[in-house]
Amino acid sequence: MGNKPVKDDTMDLLVSLCKRKGFVFQSSEIYGGVNSCWDMGPLGVELKRNIRDFWWKTMTQARDDIEGVDAAILMHPQVWVTSGHVEGFTDPLVDCKQCKSRFRADQLDTKVCPNCGGELTEARQFNLMFKTFMGPVEDSAAVVYLRPETAQGIYVNFLNVLAPSRQKIPFGIAQVGKAFRNEISPGNFIFRSREFEQMEMQYFVHPSEDQKWFEYWKEQRYNWYLALGINKDKLRFHEHGPGELAHYAKAAYDIEYEFPFGWKELEGIHNRTDFDLSRHKEATGVDLSFFNDETKERFVPYIIETSAGLDRTMLTCLADAYRSEIVRDEKRVVLGFSPKIAPIKVAVFPLVKKDGMPEIARKIYRDLQRHFKCFYDEKSAVGRRYRRMDEIGTPFCVTVDSQTLEDQTVTIRERDSMEQYRVAAEQLAQVLKEKMGPAF
Ligand code: GAP
Repeated sequence: MGNKPVKDDTMDLLVSLCKRKGFVFQSSEIYGGVNSCWDMGPLGVELKRNIRDFWWKTMTQARDDIEGVDAAILMHPQVWVTSGHVEGFTDPLVDCKQCKSRFRADQLDTKVCPNCGGELTEARQFNLMFKTFMGPVEDSAAVVYLRPETAQGIYVNFLNVLAPSRQKIPFGIAQVGKAFRNEISPGNFIFRSREFEQMEMQYFVHPSEDQKWFEYWKEQRYNWYLALGINKDKLRFHEHGPGELAHYAKAAYDIEYEFPFGWKELEGIHNRTDFDLSRHKEATGVDLSFFNDETKERFVPYIIETSAGLDRTMLTCLADAYRSEIVRDEKRVVLGFSPKIAPIKVAVFPLVKKDGMPEIARKIYRDLQRHFKCFYDEKSAVGRRYRRMDEIGTPFCVTVDSQTLEDQTVTIRERDSMEQYRVAAEQLAQVLKEKMGPAF
C-alpha cells in the first residue's frame, strides 16, 4: 500500500549526517552494533526531548482535561493476558529454506524469497513481546514482559488517577515512555526499532459519544504535526480496513507521513471501545466503571486513544527538515527545524578572534544560555561557522563584530532566509524570544 521504491538518497544522507553530527548512533557500535537499537547523541537527545516536551505541553499544560502518568515498564504478567497481547500480538513469520532469511508474511508481495528466490516455509505466528524473568528463578512462573505499548499502564491506573484529579468523563491520561517489540523486520533507521518511545493519550468518554471524540482527536492530532512544522502535503490519513484493525479496535485511522521510503504510519488514533477496561474489570474484579453524579448513570467508559511514536516523529522532523541547496556556487545543507524543536536555538560567534570580540561574545553567550540552548564557536571563517549551524538546524546565529565595539549592537543571521540585521545586544534575548514564537 503506497510504498514507493527509494527515489533518492535522502535517507543515506540523513543517516550519515545523524552519525557525523551527533544525532543518532547505532547501539553498541564498537561491538559491531546491535540490530535495530539506537542511541541518541548530544543533538539527538535535545531534538527528541524538545518533541516530547512539545507533545507533553500540548496534551497536559494547555488543557484542563488531561492528566499525566509515568507507569513502570514491567507490569503484572496477567495484564498482557487480559489485554489480549499474549494471544493476539503476533506477526506471521516465514523462513527461506535456502538462505534462512526471515520475513513477515504479510509484507511480502511474492511467494518466493525476495533475497535468493528460494522456497519459503508455511507462515507461523510469532509473538512480538520480549520476555524476561523477575527474581532469581528462571521458570515460567517468573516470566514478565517488557511492555509492547504504554497504554496498559494507563488503564490499570484509571481509578488511581480519577480519584485525586477529580476529573469527570470525558477526560484523558497521557504518558510518554519506552515500549519494546521483537519486530521481525525492523528497519529504515529509527523508523521501526525493537526499543522505542511512545507518546500515548487515552481519552475516556461516554459510550454514546465515541464517534464525536474520535473525530475530534483525529483533527487535533493532525494539527499537532502542522504546529510541529511538518509539511502539510506530506501528511495524510489512512483508515484501517477490517483486516487491518488491531484486536482491541472498533475503528482506527493512521496519520501517515511520506518518508523517502514511502507513505508510512506515524501515529494511530483508535476507538478501543470498553474493550480494555471491561477486560481488566473482569480479570481483577475491580470495578473500573464511572458513576455520573448528575445523571446517576454508571458505565464503563469507551476509550479514544492517540498513539504516536516519538522516534518516528523525530525521523519525520529530520526527513521533513532536510534540504540541500546551492548558494553562491556552494552546497548548503540545512535542517530547517521549527525553532520549537531545534536542538540548538542560538549560536554566538566573535567575527574574529581578537580586539576583545571573543570576550564580548562569551558574555553574550553566557547570558543567552539562561534562556536557550546555545553554542559558542570562534574557530574558522564565519561563513563556515554559519554553514555548520545550518546543517544541524540552528535557527539563529549572533555575531559580534567591530561595530559591536562602537555601538553595542550585534548581527542576527537567520538560517532559512540567510538575512542579517543588527539589534542592540541588551535586547537580544527578548528579540530572539519573539522570533522563536511561543514554546508550544
Ligand atoms: N497503544 C496502541 C499502539 O501501540 P500501534 O499502532 O501498535 O498502537 C503506535 O503503535 C505507534 O507507535 C505507531 O504509530 C508508531 O509511531 C510507534 N511504533 C510502533 N511500533 C514501533 C517500532 N517498532 N519502532 C518505532 N516506533 C513504533
